Amino acid sequence: MNNYNIRDLNLAEGGRRRMDWAAREMPVLSSLEERFRKERPFEGIRMSCCMHVTTETGNLLRTLQAGGADIVITASNPLSTQDDVAAALVSHYEIPVFAIKGEDDQTYYKNLHAALDHKPHITMDDGADLVSTIHKQRRDLLPNIIGGTEETTTGVIRLRAMAADGMLEFPVMAVNDAMTKHFFDNRYGTGQSTIDGIIRATNILLAGKTFVVAGYGWCGRGLAMRARGMGANVVVTEIDPLVALEAVMDGFRVMPMAEAAAIGDIFITVTGDLNVIDRHHFEVMKDGALIGNSGHFNCEINIPALEGLSTEKKLVRPFVESYRLSDGRIINILGEGRLINLAAAEGHPASVMDMSFANQALAAEYMIRNSGQLQNKVYNVPEAIDREIARLKLESMRVKIDVLTDEQVKYLNSWEEGT
Ligand code: ADE
Repeated sequence: MNNYNIRDLNLAEGGRRRMDWAAREMPVLSSLEERFRKERPFEGIRMSCCMHVTTETGNLLRTLQAGGADIVITASNPLSTQDDVAAALVSHYEIPVFAIKGEDDQTYYKNLHAALDHKPHITMDDGADLVSTIHKQRRDLLPNIIGGTEETTTGVIRLRAMAADGMLEFPVMAVNDAMTKHFFDNRYGTGQSTIDGIIRATNILLAGKTFVVAGYGWCGRGLAMRARGMGANVVVTEIDPLVALEAVMDGFRVMPMAEAAAIGDIFITVTGDLNVIDRHHFEVMKDGALIGNSGHFNCEINIPALEGLSTEKKLVRPFVESYRLSDGRIINILGEGRLINLAAAEGHPASVMDMSFANQALAAEYMIRNSGQLQNKVYNVPEAIDREIARLKLESMRVKIDVLTDEQVKYLNSWEEGT
């Protein structure tokens, strides 16, 4: 096989070892791999994936391949690729990979097109770049496509906007919206891996620092909870009154970013929106402030505005760029404003990706089994799949739960019983 674009094939053995290590924490996916090996639901199916190339994704691809899928993968972020995993996938699993950690935007899109040259029946996206590129530039591929799956909140928002505009031309399943995905991956995964990324990049002490979390969605909730656990004074910024109220009652200080900007030591954006930290915020920040992002795209921090305010910029450690402002203050940007948990650390731990990727695998199987019967819209993962994943996960953790008695079922279904 010679059609791939990776850093170095010699890294393959290390990548395979790390994939095997992660697989030990992915029992639900392993049980699917076993079934797929027997049932071969993806026989004859070409898949193009645009996902973070990590050990966990490697294990997802291994599972899909066991089911007969003919897969290629490109990165869903220029900074998230684990080059050893990319090498292992090419060398040990003959899966073409188009991804190099640190690639520029031009290479990112060249790689994305290379993955689309595979002429997929199924697309698997993390951020909707495949679906968007197909609809804008590769419409010739549309007749072959059965459907797609989408991993992340930002991607689902993009897809719902496409569907609302009547522009979506094949069905897509919103894996992100499954409970066994966002309750765990977005909350506990982002919570832990973002802290991990900040610490690996900077080695700073979080205890006693003022830690500003922009956005109190599932990712923000997890991050705020974990930052508090490390002893930081956590401040939350929000735009939704209900969600802000929840943050207040969870015990966090809530205020507008304009106020938080002046008191924060560390700022992490997890909103999915644009310029959440902007020029007027940089203007009032403390000397030495650290700013990072764990939302999907690198648009949440207005870095061009910071460049405009700066007289000098230098890389002071891997993934830490210091900007000197004209008044002498330093502002540090982590990982170029790209997902810090994947840029400076290894992304979410395998145990949560187990459930996210079980959803991916089962959503893809659902698409194939219902081929031709779905409309061009965004579908939720069926509840039965969600519950089955939760059941399997609990079983793998040897956690048992109670079962309703017949008397309790009857009680729950009756409206006559009262005081
Ligand atoms: N997104 C967040 N963490 C991830 C991981 N470990 N692998 C793939 N995608 C991810």
